[in-house]
Amino acid sequence: MEKHINGTLESAKFKSRREDFYEYRGFLENQEISISDFLEHFTAYVGHMSLNRVLTLYELYKMTKDVAGHIAEIGVYKGAGTILFAKLVRIFESESLTQIHGFDWFQGTGKGGENDSELVPEGGYQSDYNFLMDLISKQKLEHIIRIHNFDVTKELSQFFEQYKHLQFKMVFMDAGMYEVMQACIPLFWERLTPGGIMVFDQFNHELGPGETLSVRELLPNAKVKTIPNSWMPNAYIIKE
Ligand SMILES: C[S@@+](CC[C@H](N)C(=O)[O-])C[C@H]1O[C@@H](n2cnc3c(N)ncnc32)[C@H](O)[C@@H]1O
Repeated sequence: MEKHINGTLESAKFKSRREDFYEYRGFLENQEISISDFLEHFTAYVGHMSLNRVLTLYELYKMTKDVAGHIAEIGVYKGAGTILFAKLVRIFESESLTQIHGFDWFQGTGKGGENDSELVPEGGYQSDYNFLMDLISKQKLEHIIRIHNFDVTKELSQFFEQYKHLQFKMVFMDAGMYEVMQACIPLFWERLTPGGIMVFDQFNHELGPGETLSVRELLPNAKVKTIPNSWMPNAYIIKE
């Protein structure tokens, strides 16, 4: 299943890099590289844009170092963000109670409406919940990560009814559909500690118009900032 189709605006900006990257990836696929080599020397193999994403999430995490609250990721997929944040907490906050709350229904992209892009097909970005849970437990991260497997458009307010105290220092929005953003922005904004940040993966991006439209409607006066050397995530708002 195709995750997305490239368009003609933001998703096309780096299209000239694709051919070289696919050629490089094909080269790697024909090598016999062991898992332990990959794990230990991953910076030798990973593409600079994927590495850039990791560095950006680290930069954003650092901004909230002294703010009270947990970290939430809306749209966990294979765990690259949630598990990275858990490792940052393990490294930098070994004695804090900070936890990572990952929200996903593990059904991939939902049915889009008129405020979503046709370039993002329904069912893309589907991942395996059980494998993710194994990945978390094999790395002994269960005490840091809580995965919430439900449809956030239907069950998020009930979840917060149950866990009334939950407060966040960072909320990473990475399930850019309009309906998802409409449900999540108000509930998480209310629970974001002042000084904390709401991060958007695809603000002002043709693949995720629901993020931009929802920020425009729900947080019209927010100062939306960016990290200039980052392609994705590409925006954040500091709650004042
Ligand atoms: C783009 S992926 C997230 C990528 C991930 N943050 C990363 O960095 O690798 C979007 C995720 O949002 C999830 N999602 C979409 N609609 C949802 C909904 N209504 N409730 C919960 N999760 C949803 C999908 O299942 C998918 O895993």
